[in-house]
Amino acid sequence: MSLTRNVYTRYTTKAFDPARRIPPEVFAELETLLRFAPSSVNSQPWHFFIADDDAGKARIARATPAAYAYNEGKIRNASHVVVLAVRKDLDDAHLAALLEQEDRDGRFPTREARANQEKARAFYVGLHRNELKDVQTWASKQVYLALGALLLGAATLELDAAPLEGFDTQILDAELGLAERGLTSLVIVALGYHSGDDFNARLPKSRLPAERVITRL
Ligand SMILES: Cc1cc2nc3c(=O)[nH]c(=O)nc-3n(C[C@H](O)[C@H](O)[C@H](O)COP(=O)(O)O)c2cc1C
Repeated sequence: MSLTRNVYTRYTTKAFDPARRIPPEVFAELETLLRFAPSSVNSQPWHFFIADDDAGKARIARATPAAYAYNEGKIRNASHVVVLAVRKDLDDAHLAALLEQEDRDGRFPTREARANQEKARAFYVGLHRNELKDVQTWASKQVYLALGALLLGAATLELDAAPLEGFDTQILDAELGLAERGLTSLVIVALGYHSGDDFNARLPKSRLPAERVITRL
């Protein structure tokens, strides 16, 4: 399948077939995609919670009361559901863990290279933490890169997906104990295979024309 075809055929699935399961080896590819998503200064400010059984999905579905009830079936009937959460702060312990990992992974041919990386990351983190005071917003942008990779990756693997911001963050954070871990939930992705009831599978895609969103300089 070509990239352009994947772009045209991927769409937000509104109804999943509860009987169809993503094979474990296929889902493992999506986990790799999430872990290897790029992030500014390799900050990796995310944590991904995965539910692949009814009990796990029911915990996530608790976050779809009232106004969000339209998303409940997507969560319950999908094969797998991923909650993308963000670190509320990039604290020293996290920065140290990043640096140690890069060192273990062989990123630093010299001590100077390690020191340079530490300094460069500290500059950007300090900018967002202390000056702009938007560290959680900045970190959230990185998590949305993982979201984009996940959606295109799912299409490449011929899986259906539904990105969902329509849920109660407070309920989900309490259910998963995210505050205690310095995290908060941002977006949920339901993954699997669409059912015959999925009206969106038959609707054409709609996007603004190229000239409205692309300017050649
Ligand atoms: C971050 C994000 C959050 C979204 N939240 C929801 C949601 O809660 N429920 C839903 O049915 N669709 C949701 N959508 C789907 C969008 O409505 C959809 O992506 C958009 O209309 C474009 O259609 P397409 O994904 O089918 O190409 C969300 C999409 C994104 C990217």
